[in-house]
Amino acid sequence: MLVVRGSRAFVLAPGETQETDLGVIELPADVTPGTVVETHLGEAFEVRRLRGPDLFEHLERTGAPMMPRDIGLVIGHTGVAAGDRALDAGTGTGVLAAYLGRLGVEVTTYERDAEFAAVARENMATAGVAEQIDVRTGDLTDELDAVEGGYDLLTLDTGDAAAVVERADELLAPGGFLAVYSPFVESARACVEAARSAGLADIETLETIQRRMDFDDRGSRPSTAGVGHTGYLVFARFLPDVG
Ligand SMILES: C[S@@+](CC[C@H](N)C(=O)[O-])C[C@H]1O[C@@H](n2cnc3c(N)ncnc32)[C@H](O)[C@@H]1O
Repeated sequence: MLVVRGSRAFVLAPGETQETDLGVIELPADVTPGTVVETHLGEAFEVRRLRGPDLFEHLERTGAPMMPRDIGLVIGHTGVAAGDRALDAGTGTGVLAAYLGRLGVEVTTYERDAEFAAVARENMATAGVAEQIDVRTGDLTDELDAVEGGYDLLTLDTGDAAAVVERADELLAPGGFLAVYSPFVESARACVEAARSAGLADIETLETIQRRMDFDDRGSRPSTAGVGHTGYLVFARFLPDVG
């Protein structure tokens, strides 16, 4: 749930407690959106339904989460939808996994750092998707022999993604998609080469660049602040020959 008052906003699971500068909020276990809760000092906060961008802003962060713009491209280019099964690494904060879970996707996600995995499990509970997201502690590259394939989507956000891409044909269901996010072009290239050697089809790499627009009294133009580049996305598809 999103608990808000003006510019103050907290993401809390039902039953959780939060200290604020206006007192302590104890969110009832049976809380519903629209409820007004008071801190122990009698200050009112409104409870709202969580939305994807709230997760990006407020989940406890470990690894740098994927940005909503890149997650949007993953969803758009792969068409992942309710009922699909996704294999993901590394979990990190779990923002991508939580977005997929909120779509109704069943996600198995690997995180090699045990402390990060524990935080991600709590984040999935906060996001209300703990039932759809299986956060496993482990290095996906090392665990590949034990992973049963047949996934509709393979999402990777790790430095060693190419080692997993090399075996994507064993992990994906026919017609399934690969989506790799990489901040560096060298890693994107390694993933493209690995996708070719795994025999994947429809391989394409996109750089994400987004410009924020400023509208003020003097006129309208792209913002001069900030960086428009987020990273590279490599997409590919497993389309085995039926002949
Ligand atoms: C950039 S973060 C992932 C962020 C995530 N996509 C999100 O949206 O929150 C990368 C994470 O991958 C983990 N990691 C790196 N290589 C891994 C591997 N081979 N298997 C599992 N986890 C890995 C790191 O510990 C780190 O937490």
